[in-house]
Amino acid sequence: MSSPESLRREDILGPLEVALRVHRHSRERPPKPIKEQWRENRFAEVPNVITSERAEKASEFLREFCALPDELKNGVCIPGANGRGAASYGYVERRPDLDPTEIALGKIPEHKEYFHYAPFIERDLREEIRLAGPKAKTLIENMRDLWVIVEQRAHETLKRLEEENAHNPAYRDFTLRFFPDGITGGDLEKHQPKLKLRLMSYKKIEGKNVLSANNHYDAGALTFALWENAPGLQVGAKQITDQEGRVICSENMQEVERPDGTALFWPSLTFSKIDSEVEPTWHGVKQHSRQQTVIGEENRAVLVAFLNMDNHAIPSLNQTHGVTAPKPNGQ
Ligand SMILES: [Fe+2]
Repeated sequence: MSSPESLRREDILGPLEVALRVHRHSRERPPKPIKEQWRENRFAEVPNVITSERAEKASEFLREFCALPDELKNGVCIPGANGRGAASYGYVERRPDLDPTEIALGKIPEHKEYFHYAPFIERDLREEIRLAGPKAKTLIENMRDLWVIVEQRAHETLKRLEEENAHNPAYRDFTLRFFPDGITGGDLEKHQPKLKLRLMSYKKIEGKNVLSANNHYDAGALTFALWENAPGLQVGAKQITDQEGRVICSENMQEVERPDGTALFWPSLTFSKIDSEVEPTWHGVKQHSRQQTVIGEENRAVLVAFLNMDNHAIPSLNQTHGVTAPKPNGQ
């Protein structure tokens, strides 16, 4: 694997451009505008060139990393300002006994380990990664390669959303808000992107034959669901209100499938600060035992990317998990 300094995007992106052209030409009709898809389905389908093979390989590296001693893997982490896993970088474990807040809120117990990659962790955690050894290095190099691909695709998707909404002042310089320096110019360590790649491993919980991930809003602005190794993702609305704001239905969810070659792209909690017409997507997982892909202690693996804006407060657990409903302006 190459180091961040020697990485050349054309090495990675050359063959993928060919794959993307084939994908584009194979479409019979132009895709529906993203906002229209959001209104109809709560997510949009956008091109994705992360293959299942690549994602599976990365999740294998994550499992190997998770098997390291606690003191080594826990060191590869930059904790979030508010102490919550969702705002951290590097390795995070969340499980009921470590995270009593969720249980106190009446949430279903979840046990998961995940790794949040953004290039600066390779600079800020250099010594911790070295101490954790070759398994940490392999995972991080693999996630770096995926991150470069996802960044390119995310940039293209934002450009498309900006162009589709060129008449709307809310979308002026929209892409620049997330990519102020454009996309990576090869020097990944200096790059401070707002894109975070999460590779996640849900663990079995004793006595449960259904894996349920609590329904929630993602804390950032935009989410790309890139890959998962089992069905069960459900998306929808936390509640449907009539024109007077009265709740007429709650938890209107549908199970969704992600066709090969696509990512599911949806607005998250803070996106309404940009466009107050857009409601965040409420989502979670309900996966029955017959649907599970059990590997060791893991019954679901997922790859997802989050885009955030600068200068916004990190939403509280109450806001992301819907104890406090979001207001139209995203506060
Ligand atoms: Fe989520």
